[in-house]
Amino acid sequence: MTMYSGFQIAKKYVHYFFKAGNGKGHGIHSPFVFKFITDILNDKKKYPAYEIIEPIRQHLLQQKKTIEVQDYGAGSRIITTKRRIIKDIAASSLKPRKYAQLLYRIVQYFEPENIIEIGTSFGITTCYLALANKRSKVITFEGSDEIATIALQNFQLIGLKNIQLIKGNFNETLKTALPSIKMADLAFIDGNHTKTATLNYFSILKQVSNEASIFIFDDIHWSEEMDQAWNEIKKDSEVTLTIDLFFIGIVFFNKDFKVKQHFTIRF
Ligand SMILES: C[S@@+](CC[C@H](N)C(=O)[O-])C[C@H]1O[C@@H](n2cnc3c(N)ncnc32)[C@H](O)[C@@H]1O
Repeated sequence: MTMYSGFQIAKKYVHYFFKAGNGKGHGIHSPFVFKFITDILNDKKKYPAYEIIEPIRQHLLQQKKTIEVQDYGAGSRIITTKRRIIKDIAASSLKPRKYAQLLYRIVQYFEPENIIEIGTSFGITTCYLALANKRSKVITFEGSDEIATIALQNFQLIGLKNIQLIKGNFNETLKTALPSIKMADLAFIDGNHTKTATLNYFSILKQVSNEASIFIFDDIHWSEEMDQAWNEIKKDSEVTLTIDLFFIGIVFFNKDFKVKQHFTIRF
């Protein structure tokens, strides 16, 4: 599986930018999507949670210490174990502030009770998910031991008690944890960006979803495979509405939407 080159992604982004709705809601005939744009996407308030979490990201971005990282590659087995510098992982793996804060606002707005995150890394986005609604429970999955340890330290630092971190290879831990997952009211799928894995996590999570569930997929246009996975997800018979923000794709199953609709919105 090869990801698109920087040039290809830039070209795709330009195409997205001009094809997308202007991000203000003009011409959007779905009241639900219009409200999503005005109340969530374009909510520019500076929530106190942002000031709690971003300093932790900044701290990670300065850490020159190395840790041992298990690289799961594109497949199901660990392909290599290598030493990596914490700040390099923080710079390349974490969802940027703009998107992590959008996830915070989505949780704040919809108040999902049970949240699943596939791919914890250092837990920055997990903190946003957990702080947005302290009544919700976040179950987050991570396969790399030392990365998971740092995430747990970050949760402790903020005093978050509504997070459970499950360590190990997703391909095993997700299935094992499924019976204990009451419901995936919101799922953020941000790890192992291959078509097979993405569609596999989608079908597993669908087993614990309902009409009100919201699934968010990361890097939907990162490679040809991810483009294909996103197209299959859009076609799924249970999916009723999708919102493509280029770097993430949001999926709804609400049966009130009688006709399946796909929106591409500038963000
Ligand atoms: C992109 S990072 C997650 C970033 C995080 N959601 C955030 O926004 O801060 C993906 C993580 O998934 C983990 N991962 C990838 N494939 C995995 C697998 N098959 N099993 C377990 N962990 C895996 C990696 O170790 C990495 O830390």
